[in-house]
Amino acid sequence: MKTVVISLGGSILIPELDNNRIRDYLPVLTRIAAKHRLFVVVGGGGGARDYIGIARSLGIDEGTADEIGILVTRLNATLLISALGEAAYPKVAESHSEAKKFAESKKIVVMGGITPGQTTDAVAAVLAERVHADVFVNVTSVNGIYDKDPKEFKGAKYFKTLTPSQLIGIVGKGGLVAGSHNVLDIIAARVVERSHIPLVVLDGTTPKNLSDALLTGKCDCSIVSETRKKILPL
Ligand code: UTP
Repeated sequence: MKTVVISLGGSILIPELDNNRIRDYLPVLTRIAAKHRLFVVVGGGGGARDYIGIARSLGIDEGTADEIGILVTRLNATLLISALGEAAYPKVAESHSEAKKFAESKKIVVMGGITPGQTTDAVAAVLAERVHADVFVNVTSVNGIYDKDPKEFKGAKYFKTLTPSQLIGIVGKGGLVAGSHNVLDIIAARVVERSHIPLVVLDGTTPKNLSDALLTGKCDCSIVSETRKKILPL
């Protein structure tokens, strides 16, 4: 049994309030949890961005906008927990310590954001350290790490494998404002570097990609690691 921490982007799980992939993720997550200890950190998605947009238009400061974003991530986490039913611990963990405690139940532990000034990727990266994860997975809307945003730049260079310092060089170019969008936030990238925990970045718009990667090793993804050691399947 391995320990897995997944950062499940809100833009993947609940891109908009009338459009979500929760039902499709249920069998994927329960299949992984049948074999491994599983933690899922859920993002805010379009809902968070909408609320943050309203806060900003009202002249509300960025820190408060972040707090609003955190509430939306916890709302999304509550939806996922409820949909998972018996397979999940019934409460959203509001700190890393709480997540560790909830894991004693052997159920899937779900959490959202915790602190202003970061995203749920950073929450997940630190959680991976705290629970000594074997792998940290970032489920996003692209099939891995590119040197530029592949949705904007046609010639963006793709990395099948890269080192943590290469990752920091790439994501360090992005800014940090509430609701900002980057493949991984810089805090998360720095934690990946210091923790030496391998990071897998994959496209979760097809939910099965996640279970395929972890359970069979079939993965159209980028792997961030210092070593060439085989990481997938678990
Ligand atoms: P997300 O983690 O969802 O950000 O948090 P994201 O990069 O937009 O990711 P996707 O779209 O879900 O994949 C939403 C917002 O909530 C606040 C930030 O403002 C963030 O942009 N937040 C979240 C925090 O301030 N702290 C946290 O720990 C988590």
